[in-house]
Amino acid sequence: MVKHLTVVDHPLVQHKLTLMRKKTTSTVEFRQLLREISQFLAYEITRNLPMTTRRIETPIEEMDAPTLDGKKLALISILRAGNGLLDGVLELVPSARVGFVGLYRDEETLQPIQYYYKVPHGLKNRMVIAVDPMLATGNSSAAAIELLKKSGAKNIRFLCLLAAPEGIKRMEEAHPDVPIVTAAVDSHLNSNGYIVPGLGDAGDRMYGTK
Ligand code: URA
Repeated sequence: MVKHLTVVDHPLVQHKLTLMRKKTTSTVEFRQLLREISQFLAYEITRNLPMTTRRIETPIEEMDAPTLDGKKLALISILRAGNGLLDGVLELVPSARVGFVGLYRDEETLQPIQYYYKVPHGLKNRMVIAVDPMLATGNSSAAAIELLKKSGAKNIRFLCLLAAPEGIKRMEEAHPDVPIVTAAVDSHLNSNGYIVPGLGDAGDRMYGTK
């Protein structure tokens, strides 16, 4: 993947995203749809994982069969909404190592402050996929990626459900080496930092906290 931004325009993804956007969609349905979409996005973001071959024996004969190469990849959930994407991706790549980054926004400085950070060792030699459903201002995503780089990560990708142009620009400026995979790019952010038309607060919709 060389492009900075990939929009997964598969009809099933787009249909499921529309269902998620509807304000009448229940918490249960929202979580289920997010899990389903996360697997299509994961399919795209892992498209060029390094491969090797291994000698195996089928019931008919021996062959050199394709298999994943390199160290197990690392999935990093940006709390809390990232957890809604994490489970589906982990189902597809069950041996992945998992980390969590918790950031909150300081109301005075508006800067992201770290409150939790636990990531797998050896990030330097792993493909790292950071997941967060909503790329809005991009401030917390950019800060999370910065922390991962400080931990040694060199090959990082960012997976989100919805992105705003403002967030994409912020990420492109801060981390031009980090490709982004998303299901859609919406119009803009409103004055409260919500994506328009968006789907509201992903964490609240996922966990019913409103
Ligand atoms: N986070 C959300 O959950 N929703 C938005 O629209 C923006 C940020």
